[in-house]
Amino acid sequence: MPAQNAKSLCDFIDASPTPYHAVDSAQATLNAVGAVRLDERDAWRLEPGRTYYVARDGASLVAFRMGRLAPSEAGFAFAGAHTDAPGLRARIEKSVAARGFERAAVEAYGGPIHSTWLDRPLSLAGRVVVRSAGGRTERRLVNFARPVAVIPNLAIHFNRDMNKGVEYAMNGSLLPIVSASGHNGKEGGAGASWLVRAVAAELCVETDAVVAAELTFVDAAPSIAFGMDSELLSAPRIDNLEGCHAVLSAFASATARDHGQVAVLFDNEEIGSGTSRGADSAFLRDIVERIVALSDGSGPEAAHRALARSFSVSVDGAQGWHPSYADKFDEDFAPVLNGGPAVKANANVRYATDAVGEAAFRGLCESSGVPCQRFRMRADLAPGTTIGPISSAMLGVRTVDVGVPMLAMHSCRETAGAYDHDYMISALRALYASGPSIVD
Ligand code: CO
Repeated sequence: MPAQNAKSLCDFIDASPTPYHAVDSAQATLNAVGAVRLDERDAWRLEPGRTYYVARDGASLVAFRMGRLAPSEAGFAFAGAHTDAPGLRARIEKSVAARGFERAAVEAYGGPIHSTWLDRPLSLAGRVVVRSAGGRTERRLVNFARPVAVIPNLAIHFNRDMNKGVEYAMNGSLLPIVSASGHNGKEGGAGASWLVRAVAAELCVETDAVVAAELTFVDAAPSIAFGMDSELLSAPRIDNLEGCHAVLSAFASATARDHGQVAVLFDNEEIGSGTSRGADSAFLRDIVERIVALSDGSGPEAAHRALARSFSVSVDGAQGWHPSYADKFDEDFAPVLNGGPAVKANANVRYATDAVGEAAFRGLCESSGVPCQRFRMRADLAPGTTIGPISSAMLGVRTVDVGVPMLAMHSCRETAGAYDHDYMISALRALYASGPSIVD
């Protein structure tokens, strides 16, 4: 039987080329289940059993369902993931022209595998600030959703050692070509860059109305499931839109319980989380304190009691065992695709997991008939990290780091198992249903 949630995951990824679009997609999912949108600037009134969400700067989002009991008595079940992905951020004002070619200038966001961005049609998406007729500025999302650029390799005849590995410079060989007019003479001189002109045309505004933008080049090809049973997923941004979609799907289908239920989507994990809306910000704590103040009606003690009763599952991709690079793994801690979510642990707490948290997550998997694996980096290699350790330090909440196994993490396109996504959603559904008392 094909995986149940592969199609909706592919649709979510394709609709979410940037964190802004991911939060937009998430809001659509939440609106569909009757969640109420809150603004951080307003005074809130919260009712038991109801579902709310609040976005910060359009790129991070916290959704919560009020419990039937006071948070200080029943705590919260948290699940979180990150909305951002490594890639090529455009420098919109700059264009690089030569003999009829125009290239866009870029810089790396996070740690992309450079070579994977080459020789594939790239699209463009992001957030643009435009000035309207009255002189006011307005934030607009843009998603070209079609090929607009390509980064061609050098022909092999110019470098016969190419297959021994090539270093691609961000300010040279990685500049995406966006047009080729065939002119052989001098370039046209001043004027708006191709990026400004293209964005203005896409948003139906004049070029001088484009004030500033955060634009990213992304894979233009759609996400797909393939294999005999469509058991494999090939898509951009599986790290970590798979996690976002799993958290959201589980949260949206959950129903109110005694404990509160929280879904958290953070931006900026790939650059260390230390921004006003990342996991290393006060965003989640701010929301928790407001929820508790409005439902317990008491001072800071109630929030401390609520957090002390809470439990968190941090979802982010795990390095799946790769048959071509088996020596890179500790084979006893190398999760395979479609073998179920992996619990990620590290002695130096690059992952937040401790024995109690691991046992709790294993219990959730067991109760929902989901297989569960383990990931630990080979002992002489250092793993990456994720939102788990940062968020758990900010809140003081016990956290377990888990993720579906995937291949080619940080490549322009990554590969994962379609069944693992179903498994992850089932485990997170069990978390929201059972609540934080599973660690008591
Ligand atoms: Co990640």
